[in-house]
Amino acid sequence: VSLDDAAWREVRGEFPALARHVYLNAAAASPTPRVVRAAVDRFHAALEAEGDGPWDAWLAEREATRARVAAFVGAAPDEIAFVPNTSTGINLIVDLLADDGDVLSDTLEFPTVTLPWIHRGVRVDAVAPRADGHLDVDDLRAALEPRHATVLVSHVQFSNGCRQDLAALGQARGGRHLVVCGSQSTGAFAIDVQAGQITAFATAGHKWLCAGFGAGFAFMRRDLLARRPRVMGWFSTNDPFAFDNRHYSLLDSHARSELGCPPFGQIFALGAAVDFLAGIGRERIEARVLALNTYLTDGLDRIGVPTLSPRGAYRSAETLCVFPDPAHVVAHLAERGIHVSPKPQGIRVSTHFYNSAEDVDALVSALRDYRPA
Ligand SMILES: Cc1ncc(COP(=O)(O)O)c(C=O)c1O
Repeated sequence: VSLDDAAWREVRGEFPALARHVYLNAAAASPTPRVVRAAVDRFHAALEAEGDGPWDAWLAEREATRARVAAFVGAAPDEIAFVPNTSTGINLIVDLLADDGDVLSDTLEFPTVTLPWIHRGVRVDAVAPRADGHLDVDDLRAALEPRHATVLVSHVQFSNGCRQDLAALGQARGGRHLVVCGSQSTGAFAIDVQAGQITAFATAGHKWLCAGFGAGFAFMRRDLLARRPRVMGWFSTNDPFAFDNRHYSLLDSHARSELGCPPFGQIFALGAAVDFLAGIGRERIEARVLALNTYLTDGLDRIGVPTLSPRGAYRSAETLCVFPDPAHVVAHLAERGIHVSPKPQGIRVSTHFYNSAEDVDALVSALRDYRPA
């Protein structure tokens, strides 16, 4: 993959933030491409001009967006619920699966992946990663007990960037549910819920999807529609405009877990982002983020910055670099217009498809010049 060809420069040009920043922080939140703001602007312009006049058109656009988001992850439209963030999606999934039994997860997870289960009284066991930071599918398999009803992992880990082979996990879980947090992967790495035999999945929109805040989604397999969701609202029913306050039938779609009037702006933002990413191509994006990440770790190795992120098949687009004084390093980089995240072990650097070899060069050169306070 060429790191600087004209097509990628054109893609980069769609992100106004990149004209001013060396933005290596997609794992926290991404700037959005112009098409996302255009979608939200279009909606708000119509709202400003016509009130809820276009209501029916907005509902139709919501369903068209649902179909495109579903296709993006290999799901069917009735398996998708729009949610504001990962936490909401995980809670919807816990609502459906909490009574089935214990959960097997790992010690690397972001808190919102595991805490909602623990909050509900579900036992969550955690497998530790190997010395290089990778979570081994054999270790997960060996830790599985009959009491485990669910295997729970992030596709990519928030801190060290370990990327999991979801198809291998789908094989290893032995008939249990496989629940996946896609917050750190969706938009950078292709997800296919069918190939991975995923039971349920949740992601935010503001990281690698480039959709901004409030624009996430959850996938829940169709057979879970047989289960009773814990929460519902008037819009979760087949005939909301009957205004019957005594009787209802639930929608035969996981859209029933979206409560009340839709946040159209965020949904359209997600739709625009998914169209933008699909237009570039999931394979091209994956190859690009991996090539940039390899270019990054080659540079870090060259200047002697130790890293804690696994490589090889476990490599993602996030690299955790060891520094004893993370806040100082982040400030040193910020002074040079370079954006990364502090972590307890050092700094986390993200290489998304919109980054360039020059971005990575700028970071490596600033780190080479860095002296601890
Ligand atoms: C793996 C993972 N899940 C979830 C979240 C955040 O959850 P939410 O979208 O609810 O803010 C993060 C990061 O900030 C994350 O890295």
